[in-house]
Amino acid sequence: MNRIFSGMQPTRQLHLGNYLGALKNWVALQNEYECIFCVVDLHALTIEHKPEVLRENIREVTAAYVAAGIDPEKNILFNQSTVTGHAELNWILACHTPLGWLNRMTQFKEKAGKHRENAVLGLYSYPTLMAADILLYKATHVPVGEDQKQHLELARDIAGAFNRYYGVEFFPQPEPQIMGEATRIMSLRDGTKKMSKSDESDYSRINLTDDADTIALKVRKAKTDPEPLPETVEDLEKRPEADNLVTIYAALTDSSRAQVLAQHAGSQFSAFKGALVDVAVSKLSPISAEMNRLLSDKAEIDRILKKGSDRANEIAAKNMDAIKDIVGLLRP
Ligand code: AMP
Ligand code: TRP
Repeated sequence: MNRIFSGMQPTRQLHLGNYLGALKNWVALQNEYECIFCVVDLHALTIEHKPEVLRENIREVTAAYVAAGIDPEKNILFNQSTVTGHAELNWILACHTPLGWLNRMTQFKEKAGKHRENAVLGLYSYPTLMAADILLYKATHVPVGEDQKQHLELARDIAGAFNRYYGVEFFPQPEPQIMGEATRIMSLRDGTKKMSKSDESDYSRINLTDDADTIALKVRKAKTDPEPLPETVEDLEKRPEADNLVTIYAALTDSSRAQVLAQHAGSQFSAFKGALVDVAVSKLSPISAEMNRLLSDKAEIDRILKKGSDRANEIAAKNMDAIKDIVGLLRP
């Protein structure tokens, strides 16, 4: 059986990278697979947070999922902390994860920065919790952006280590699904840095809640180079900022970079940016309008999460029992 699991952290606002690299693909996949989409609130505790802001962010990310087109009736949509199996399985998997594997994780190195001694244990074991998220449901496919590939490989290794240790074929090997042109959307200020929630400059990203004027302003201010758009993808790839804008245009219009160039080669950036603003506004403004509508009724969002959580728990509890039996934990 094929089952998808994916998630996003409720850390501040979602941006165009989250939408094009993940959400938009999830929306397409919901018709082909049984899908579980999670708001990974426990992961959000690995960085500094304020309780009242976190609570609102959980609702905001839920609203973004639904506004982007994820059907909460058809799919399971819930927040991680409501299903206790995630934290429980995290512990069991942590007992099968060599430190050497965790020491290779580049995201930890980036996030911990220079003060590694002060980094918290939760940030270090972030990838084992992510493996637990996926394996708790025995998910077979995991759609994510390129930056999560290493974590997915770790989840596969941990699944294998568990199966070998206990001599079982319990966990499937989850496949990463890295889809489309937009696997890595870059900052609008620096074409070599990924678009990120944690970038200090709000001009580096387009947020899903930005209004049309803000989107237009950010696109117009986006860094470019003086040349007009080239004819070929090969020429484009030497120009990170130009490549990024063409990639965004391609992803928003469901076309390839080559198709975008076929239409816009020779254009100056002033003209191309105008066209990009039009497509960005026409794709994103319905999503932000729907998000705002949903957020005006918090009880409804909480109801969606509660329902998803009950459904997730049903699968998780069953698998957790089986896992405890395999591991030798008595269930009197
Ligand atoms: P995060 O915001 O780090 O929780 O990421 C949520 C999802 O969005 C993950 O699947 C990421 O791979 C994806 N994502 C985040 N930033 C980008 C980006 N700049 N380009 C493409 N995908 C991204
Ligand atoms: N680490 C992922 C990110 O930052 C979020 C995440 C947590 C996730 N658990 C997951 C993604 C399980 C896919 C599957 O984007």
